[in-house]
Amino acid sequence: MNKALVTGITGQDGSYLAELLLARGYEVWGLIRRSSSFHTGRIDHLYKDPHEQPRLRLLYGDLTDGGNLSAIINEIQPDEVYNLGAQSHVRVSFDMPVYTVNTDALGTLRLLEAIRLSSRPPKFYQASSSEMYGKVVETPQTEKTPFHPRSPYGCAKLYSFWQTVNYREAYGLFACNGILFNHESPRRGETFVTRKITRGATRIKLGLQDKLYLGNLDAKRDWGFAGDYVEAIWLMLQQDKPDDYVVATGESHSVREFVVEVFSCLDLDWTKYVEIDERYYRPSEVDHLQGDASKARKALKWEPKVGFKKLAQMMTEADMKIADRERIIGWREKAGQ
Ligand code: NAP
Ligand code: GDD
Repeated sequence: MNKALVTGITGQDGSYLAELLLARGYEVWGLIRRSSSFHTGRIDHLYKDPHEQPRLRLLYGDLTDGGNLSAIINEIQPDEVYNLGAQSHVRVSFDMPVYTVNTDALGTLRLLEAIRLSSRPPKFYQASSSEMYGKVVETPQTEKTPFHPRSPYGCAKLYSFWQTVNYREAYGLFACNGILFNHESPRRGETFVTRKITRGATRIKLGLQDKLYLGNLDAKRDWGFAGDYVEAIWLMLQQDKPDDYVVATGESHSVREFVVEVFSCLDLDWTKYVEIDERYYRPSEVDHLQGDASKARKALKWEPKVGFKKLAQMMTEADMKIADRERIIGWREKAGQ
């Protein structure tokens, strides 16, 4: 049985990747951080019968603790390591640049070192990002497009990208970068713009909230579905040779277009509810991302299945259910039940 170690397993992508790996018969080990409250909500459904030998196991660890990463790699001896763990919020990286670099840049280096020094180095996947293209020099962006990051997060991810390439070239590790463009789902963190919009709009629809405050509506992103993107991630480690791949839909839309799509799914006039709050602007913005995934389509035989409209609809429907539960709880509380 193949063994995989996943950092960031409690996040959006970690949960979809864990599902995919378990479905393909892997034994999955997830690295989780100690927290004062539970944060395994996205993967709780993957625990089955407590009497069965579990194929999903969780271990405490952190990308800021190199000794712990080495001990875990040596103990588990995984066949594949997927490094998805990160402080992944671009706006927050301006508030916490050193913390972001420690996790997203040095964290990757610590993991690569642990792998290099292990007796049986596993294959390695690095969660690289379209944010590395930043102030883009061409559209669409490919594996050959030069980088120009615009945030501490983008700079940290670029460092990790090159360390991954360097460990492949210097030490012969099977190490791949997936340069993933924005991907979303009903499990997306609630402070990323798509989910913030679907949560806000559905709560407005049910009278739980009056307004939705957003930042730059003109930014354009190439939004895909996280469930599709983890398939590309897995495929990268199943090839004969390690390489780097762009993963994207090839279509881009503005934040405003996403707002319009979601509010029209709910028969609401968005102009009555959406207001601009400059606190959500970034010191330097990434205006337009649009990827060309031709290499992944050809070499990995990968295709995205969910497009822009379907994604907005899927997220809106899922958040409508959550908002409805909130409304019922609100009634019960008012009724003193
Ligand atoms: P996410 O939902 O924010 O999940 C991030 C994960 O990283 C969480 O499990 C988090 O744990 C964990 N983490 C944070 N700091 C850590 C640390 N110091 N040590 C160990 N784990 C840590 O992110 P995502 O959307 O799933 O993205 C997965 C990866 O892909 C990230 O590296 C992200 O930067 C990258 N990426 C994402 C996109 C996208 O559009 N989603 C695009 C390109 C690249 P807690 O639950 O404890 O916070
Ligand atoms: N978060 C947020 N909140 N973004 C807003 C808001 C708001 O209220 N209003 C407008 N935006 C704009 C941002 O300025 C940005 O241009 C765009 O919406 C997308 O923001 P996010 O959803 O936060 O994503 P991101 O593109 O900055 O970063 C995501 O994608 C990267 C890949 O390109 C993250 O998932 C990164 O981890 C990932 O690497």
